[in-house]
Amino acid sequence: MIQESPKEKILIIDDIPASVKTLANKLEEDYLVLTAANGPEALDIIHAEPPDLILLDIMMPFMDGYELCRLLKQDEKFHNIPVIFVTARAEEEDQAKGLALGAVDYLVKPVSAAIVKARVRTHLELKRHREHLERMVEERTRELNKALTLLQAKKESEFRRAAEVHSGRMAALGEMATSMAHEINQPLNVISITVQSWQLLNRRGALTTEKMLHDVQTLLDNVNRISRLIDHVRTLGHPSQEICGFYLQDVLKDALSLCRMQFLHHGITINLDIDESLPPVRAVQAEFEQVLLNLLSNSRYALGEKKSREGNFEPVVNIRICRKDKDRVCLAIEDNGGGIDPLAEENIFDPFFTTKPPGQGTGLGLSISRQLMLKFKGDLLLINNPGQGACFEIVLPG
Ligand SMILES: Nc1ncnc2c1ncn2[C@@H]1O[C@H](COP(=O)(O)OP(=O)(O)OP(=O)(O)O)[C@@H](O)[C@H]1O
Ligand SMILES: [Mg+2]
Repeated sequence: MIQESPKEKILIIDDIPASVKTLANKLEEDYLVLTAANGPEALDIIHAEPPDLILLDIMMPFMDGYELCRLLKQDEKFHNIPVIFVTARAEEEDQAKGLALGAVDYLVKPVSAAIVKARVRTHLELKRHREHLERMVEERTRELNKALTLLQAKKESEFRRAAEVHSGRMAALGEMATSMAHEINQPLNVISITVQSWQLLNRRGALTTEKMLHDVQTLLDNVNRISRLIDHVRTLGHPSQEICGFYLQDVLKDALSLCRMQFLHHGITINLDIDESLPPVRAVQAEFEQVLLNLLSNSRYALGEKKSREGNFEPVVNIRICRKDKDRVCLAIEDNGGGIDPLAEENIFDPFFTTKPPGQGTGLGLSISRQLMLKFKGDLLLINNPGQGACFEIVLPG
């Protein structure tokens, strides 16, 4: 059903009833016609129901047409209503005055029906177009403002996040540097005290080969510990190493060739499940390999520990290379070494968090691995199955 739009309203203002009637007759068919005999009466009508167009006589009692037009053009609410002067005054300067006051047209009586209808139609059309344009501009401005606000909010939140990440990183680095100094100090002290004790014994002529052989193992253990700490930290930020594209299975093969013997030695079965159709990933290959080695070493340790507790335990590592979702691929290392205590789960990626006996683990493996993966726009995720095993997923875009 086509909805008929309501008729537009025309207000005719003239003090001569015959003139009002003539004009009204010409327009009534197409418009809703309102009439007023003078300025004050017209103002009442305009305030009560603003018309779409006004036909205005000039010479009227109380308030002439010029004055009324001036009042309307000053008023924010009514200044957009088109005013057409319809008057017997045909002087050029009267017309000029009327148009200067803001009227859109000027008709001299007597006016033919065709002219009045044509002018009214034209000015109503212009008014409609103008209002349509104004609405469009308003709408566009509103949309633009909305987009701008969203953009600003997005930029602000991105900036806040970047600042948070940055300050978090700085804090983590500071924390790590302090702890690192502490961690290295301990074995250094042991080495220093051992060597000093040798000097002391030597001065007294009491340094024996047995004593030295006994202490050498302590020295070696502590040197090893320092070199492990340094090894871990060395993998952090190698500006000289380039990001390149490589296949996950190729790096996995390299990493396994480095540690396969250790796995065999502990009787650990390695199962591989590789989706060969996946695209290459982008990262620094040596650093990615370090992440793999860290995870494999953790699994090997957990499995070795469990094996030493339960004689008939059959240790297994399942390694899967598969699609994680539409935009990411994943290399998962899953073991049946008992998993991680739920209480420790939330600290697992913290630097220096370790459950290994004092002197055995640095607690840096996972935290550094995770940082590396984040650097490559990937992630390192833990899927823990307490009592059963742990699964670490290396995720990368691809
Ligand atoms: N596969 C796993 N199964 C059970 N626990 C794990 C496993 N991987 C990691 N963990 C737990 O997470 C802790 C932190 O691991 P991370 O690799 O960061 O340090 P670490 O292995 O203790 O020390 P390092 O890497 O220097 O040997 C470990 O001490 C262990 O408790
Ligand atoms: Mg480790």
